[in-house]
Amino acid sequence: MNYTHNFNPTISDESLFQEIVKEKESIGYYNLVHQDTKAFKEYAKTVKQTNIVVIGIGGSTLGTYAIYKFLKHSKNLSKQLFFLETTDPIDIKSKIEAIDLEDTLFIVISKSGTTIETVSIFKYINSLVTCNKDNTLVITENDSKLNYYAQKNDIKTFEIPKDVGGRFSVFSAVGLLPLAIVGLDIDSILKGTKDVYNLFFNSREDLSFHDRLLKKARFLTEYKNSFNINVVFSYSSRLEGFNKWYIQLWGESLGKVDINLTRQGLTPIGIIGPIDQHSFLQLIVEGKRDKTVTVIKVNDFDNDLKIPSVKLEGLEELDYIDGIEFSSLINKQADATITSINNLNDIPCDVITIDGVCESAIAGLMYEYELLTSICAKFMYINAYDQPGVEAGKIILKDKLKAKK
Ligand code: PA5
Repeated sequence: MNYTHNFNPTISDESLFQEIVKEKESIGYYNLVHQDTKAFKEYAKTVKQTNIVVIGIGGSTLGTYAIYKFLKHSKNLSKQLFFLETTDPIDIKSKIEAIDLEDTLFIVISKSGTTIETVSIFKYINSLVTCNKDNTLVITENDSKLNYYAQKNDIKTFEIPKDVGGRFSVFSAVGLLPLAIVGLDIDSILKGTKDVYNLFFNSREDLSFHDRLLKKARFLTEYKNSFNINVVFSYSSRLEGFNKWYIQLWGESLGKVDINLTRQGLTPIGIIGPIDQHSFLQLIVEGKRDKTVTVIKVNDFDNDLKIPSVKLEGLEELDYIDGIEFSSLINKQADATITSINNLNDIPCDVITIDGVCESAIAGLMYEYELLTSICAKFMYINAYDQPGVEAGKIILKDKLKAKK
């Protein structure tokens, strides 16, 4: 008997990789790893205010929040960062009441420059305090209306490059500038991204990272009709911002109509361990087999908080936990979750362990997710970088607001 077959993947890993290499020429986020950070660091040194308030929404804030939230309790930062993102009046008021506005730098961030949430909050701030070149900074595209406003008022601006999309902009001025101002090491942030960039694009001798990223993207997209939900299970409360950022990146980039006019999309879920071990884990373990799970662990929390040997009458049977460090406990909880999922043999699960609570670790993780998103989009024949659904909503809102007048 003779046998031949053509059951090859529709696109090989190497062809797909070459498409990504080509995309690097027109999509700006890939190359942010090579940036010169001098201008950001120099500006940061000039900031005198103690409070830094970022006004923006979506891609203009979520990445910065993810990095700040991850690091702020582990670093000795001299300044505090706040985010005004929502038009919920209670949220705006309560945040503003807690900030000394006279000792605040306002950073208005909007790529388009005309987002209603951002402009309406900035208008409100203007009614409370005079916004001028001494207390305001603008980050936007160089020909936006917000940029025009800044020029007219002699307010310092930094540019969001045209070829860098909102949700892929965290490693541009959008994220690096506020993070440098509060005292985080933005060179380490970029080093984290560059290491991942090199592992994916340049490390031809050791292809393990390159191969695993392509393999994961291929699995997620080829099995997307069976496993449509991608759960990120982060074992650190410090990763709550990362989860939110992931949900935006994944949802807004991959929920699209493909070149054959077929609707595509993978549904992101972000949960936190061990808290959600006592809730969502039940759905993962016994619910419908429509989910993949990625567990994210932190190897070194750099924290020696321990469970003390305190005697609690009636609870002696739990004394075996005495002396265990909380960092070790949370990682064992993650391992227990991983084992319970793997024992079932029918839930796709992978584990990413980042080194520690440091700039390079969170940045590397985020850059890996940006690459994964781009690769999945290529496999799905969709454009990861537009957001017609979000834009349509913005236009409808503006029409509604105008009609009311
Ligand atoms: O990723 C995106 O493009 C969006 O989430 C935008 O970041 C968001 O809508 C805010 O837009 P802008 O930065 O133009 O104010």
